[in-house]
Amino acid sequence: MVNRLQDKVAIITGAAGGIGLETTILFVREGASVLMLDISEAALERALAKVNELCPDLKSSNNFVKTKKCDVSKEADVQAAVESMNEHGGIDVMFNNAGIMHAEDDDAIDTAEKIWDLTQAINVKGVWFGCKHAVLSMRRHKKARGSIVNTASMVALVGAAAPQLAYTASKGAVLALTRELAMDWLGDDLQKRYRREVHFPMGRFGEAIEQANAVVFLASDESSFILGQDFVVDGGMTKAYVTGEGPPTASPKNNAT
Ligand SMILES: NC(=O)c1ccc[n+]([C@@H]2O[C@H](COP(=O)([O-])OP(=O)(O)OC[C@H]3O[C@@H](n4cnc5c(N)ncnc54)[C@H](O)[C@@H]3O)[C@@H](O)[C@H]2O)c1
Repeated sequence: MVNRLQDKVAIITGAAGGIGLETTILFVREGASVLMLDISEAALERALAKVNELCPDLKSSNNFVKTKKCDVSKEADVQAAVESMNEHGGIDVMFNNAGIMHAEDDDAIDTAEKIWDLTQAINVKGVWFGCKHAVLSMRRHKKARGSIVNTASMVALVGAAAPQLAYTASKGAVLALTRELAMDWLGDDLQKRYRREVHFPMGRFGEAIEQANAVVFLASDESSFILGQDFVVDGGMTKAYVTGEGPPTASPKNNAT
């Protein structure tokens, strides 16, 4: 499959290795231009060489792959990286993927406060800054659509028997903030906002093709690591805490207050 990301400009954090590098390669093969961000310049250099080697068509295309040193826990770094894409019309995709699990992360007794703070700074604040500046960029460039993808972890859903408390707490926060931002930033369209308050967050029912797209994904080899999941395609309805219009219904009285 090619060109599903044609003409899209993407930023990937933590792009010098692992999931970020693999995602960069797939994005490039699908026609996207990518700004790879990472805290390690040396690793970025090696990663870029790998991308060029594995994506030989890149050179003859109109697309680009660039690298930039960025510590996602520093807002100024994230802002500068996102704004460096202004000359390309802003970004269409932000993948907030950078994250650490520190070797000294431990249980509630033995995790040092500085390890806790460092983990939250990169894994949580880094995702917040990435989301914030991606949305500001999308608004600035009047994008009608865009995607922000944040990496959490299964430990946001289940407790880990091997203790890594700072990491686990950070990934729970990533899931929670992602859900809320998804509702908050659904769009600036007031009509849609009013409608979503009484029904679907998206302000409309799903179309058959949107279900069919999910089936195509599940039927393909791309879903090779998805097993036995509830795969929900519902326009965000089961993730939204919404407020209905009109006065609230009567509540029962508390005893003490
Ligand atoms: N690999 C897994 O099994 C797994 C499982 C669950 C979640 N995750 C999450 O997926 C994401 C990527 O994991 P991975 O396995 O590819 O990790 P990785 O360690 O291979 O890559 C992470 C990259 O992030 C970079 N990085 C670290 N601190 C940074 C900072 N402050 N600013 C910018 N870049 C920074 C590193 O230099 C590295 O290149 C992380 O958020 C991780 O928590 C991974």
